[in-house]
Amino acid sequence: MTENSPQPASSGNCQIRENIQRMRGYAPGEQPRVGKVIKLNTNENPFPPSDKVVQAIQQTATAALQRYPDAFATPFRIAAAQHWGVEPEWILAGNGSDDLLTILTRTFVGENEKIRYPYPSYVLYRTLAEIQGAEYDEVLFRKDWTLGPEWTAPTDGLRLMFLPNPNSPSGTRFSKEQIRDWADQITCPLVVDEAYADFSQESCVELVRDCNNVIVTRTLSKSYGLAGLRFGYLVAQPELVTQLAKVKDSYNCDTLSIAAATAALMDQDWLSQNLQSIQSNRKLLSQGLTECGFEVQPSEANFVWCTHPKQHHQTLYQQLKDQGILVRYMDYPNWGDGLRISVGTSDQIQALLAVLQHLGVPS
Ligand SMILES: Cc1ncc(COP(=O)(O)O)c(C=O)c1O
Repeated sequence: MTENSPQPASSGNCQIRENIQRMRGYAPGEQPRVGKVIKLNTNENPFPPSDKVVQAIQQTATAALQRYPDAFATPFRIAAAQHWGVEPEWILAGNGSDDLLTILTRTFVGENEKIRYPYPSYVLYRTLAEIQGAEYDEVLFRKDWTLGPEWTAPTDGLRLMFLPNPNSPSGTRFSKEQIRDWADQITCPLVVDEAYADFSQESCVELVRDCNNVIVTRTLSKSYGLAGLRFGYLVAQPELVTQLAKVKDSYNCDTLSIAAATAALMDQDWLSQNLQSIQSNRKLLSQGLTECGFEVQPSEANFVWCTHPKQHHQTLYQQLKDQGILVRYMDYPNWGDGLRISVGTSDQIQALLAVLQHLGVPS
């Protein structure tokens, strides 16, 4: 087979499902493992996690790793329940919030049924629909990142709606009241994906009590600086959690990550200090980019979305990359393109701005 041959429809006796053959697969942001790179492309936290996380991993690693982990991440569930003022039965832990998004899709959506989400937003939602053999209904954001009435319009086969809040790539957020209102109008589950909510002023976890179709997913990858650990959780009414738990892998979180995530959640002092640094660096980044002539979307996340009226975004991405600075170039068909830049340390931001000035931006 040459490099240009079409993908085989089957591999020997292994028949690949048609929807899998058709899909392109989710392409994560670049993760260079060699060389010195300023990495501002995948919304990781630029600071290392709390020391208490490292201690928890060290202590746990010397304990009984020959045993299977706690299948429900009980210590974490208890800590998260205390944090949010609910009972542990309202919490389900996952191997990153992506795992929970997968469990939600598998639980609620059958083949040829429909998932709705706003566009542009998190690219994985489409991948999950494609794997499931489901349809996806992408509701276009208006240019000011608001949504029109089609967002809540009834449609046949609609089984699940995802709403990232704050959204990626825009960093914009809808209010809790707005989301409550939408949840009341629709007749399917509304998953509020709060991967970035710690960086903003508000969470929708509280809505879960009153609205039985609201489910909130959270991650420790961003605000807790634990992207490499793979740990997330959701908050939902216990009847839903019981059903979702049937769909998860038996041991979807490992012993080390359960201990580390529990320690992280319990160190709220570390979190508040970290959030303060990210929020003040976000200001620095937004101001610097604005001075370079970018239009910068006010952000409530740990990244900013920016476009430049005079620059070619993909060229700029490549020029930055050539100088060892990795940002995310996003090109959304039927929408437009731009750069999504994660909030780094102040040194990283100064380096980025210096390279932009060196490149003659603005010009
Ligand atoms: C909107 C959104 N949701 C979920 C995730 C996944 O996070 P996790 O690392 O917990 O799987 C991401 C990751 O970038 C994201 O941008």
